[in-house]
Amino acid sequence: MLFKQQAWLTQKLLVLGSLAVGSLLYLVARVGSLDRLQPICPIEGRFGARNQADFPLRALQFKRGLLHEFRKGNASKEQVRLHDLVQQLPKAIIIGVRKGGTRALLEMLNLHPAVVKASQEIHFFDNDENYAKGIEWYRKKMPFSYPQQITIEKSPAYFITEEVPERIYKMNSSIKLLIIVREPTTRAISDYTQVLEGKERKNKTYYKFEKLAIDPNTCEVNTKYKAVRTSIYTKHLERWLKYFPIEQFHIVDGDRLITEPLPELQLVEKFLNLPPRISQYNLYFNATRGFYCLRFNIIFNKCLAGSKGRIHPEVDPSVITKLRKFFHPFNQKFYQITGRTLNWP
Ligand code: A3P
Repeated sequence: MLFKQQAWLTQKLLVLGSLAVGSLLYLVARVGSLDRLQPICPIEGRFGARNQADFPLRALQFKRGLLHEFRKGNASKEQVRLHDLVQQLPKAIIIGVRKGGTRALLEMLNLHPAVVKASQEIHFFDNDENYAKGIEWYRKKMPFSYPQQITIEKSPAYFITEEVPERIYKMNSSIKLLIIVREPTTRAISDYTQVLEGKERKNKTYYKFEKLAIDPNTCEVNTKYKAVRTSIYTKHLERWLKYFPIEQFHIVDGDRLITEPLPELQLVEKFLNLPPRISQYNLYFNATRGFYCLRFNIIFNKCLAGSKGRIHPEVDPSVITKLRKFFHPFNQKFYQITGRTLNWP
């Protein structure tokens, strides 16, 4: 009997012992993985030393949780008032370019504690019906934020719509404008791919890219095709420059944002006069998606929707060469105006 009890006790001790060792091993591994998750700076480092400029950001990071609660509808009007939440007009707008990586840029900037994004494309300045509703309508479309934060919205149609520069100027002549561009031919194919997918979803047939991009009568590039026109960045930018000085624009390299997002985001932080807060910790490469995804904290991370990063159809290489040749002089002018050389072919 005594022997049986001893064996039972030994067994229990063994189980408890292995549980303790297991937990210890798990903790060691976890701490190890935490270290790996923050290759550049540990949590404290990410928020920098405590100085005057940093304090509001720390507070904002903390308050973000409250903001989130409000968005979920869990906060009362009283709480909103108490926490000074406001709907602010954007201080910066991602005006384009369509298929340049506008969504990725907005989502990545939103990692910054001082940035709050408008989730939807508002289409206030490019849509006459919306514009007629007035600036208060626009403001009410903005997310709640703290006064120290900046609101950013993106509507890529702004870049190519005639009336938009003047309308934005009337709202705020010192607003900061972000333009994310990709190599023009790739962007045009991406644009085509999006339209093609829409047609296929509706069981409709569509022309091949080659047929749209090249005029069959002249065998020259078809400048009437919208996907081609949109990629002539300099033409659109020139219209904007009638209202805003070049210093109010920042060009983001959309091709580099795909492969190496952090340095591009750091340039935007600088342009927006924000302290650097987005780090390598916030971005991780997801091999399945083939893109960088976002890490907000140890629990919450996300990749962009599947509609971002479509597989492009194969395009006749001679058409690609023709398009690249066509865009070349426009690209040179774009580099010259913006001061950013992108080494496109
Ligand atoms: P493709 O679908 O051609 O690959 P937009 O948001 O302006 O519509 O741009 C879409 C493009 O964003 C995608 O074009 C994709 O290449 C690019 N992109 C950049 N960073 C991305 C990311 N982290 N995840 C998914 N797509 C990203």
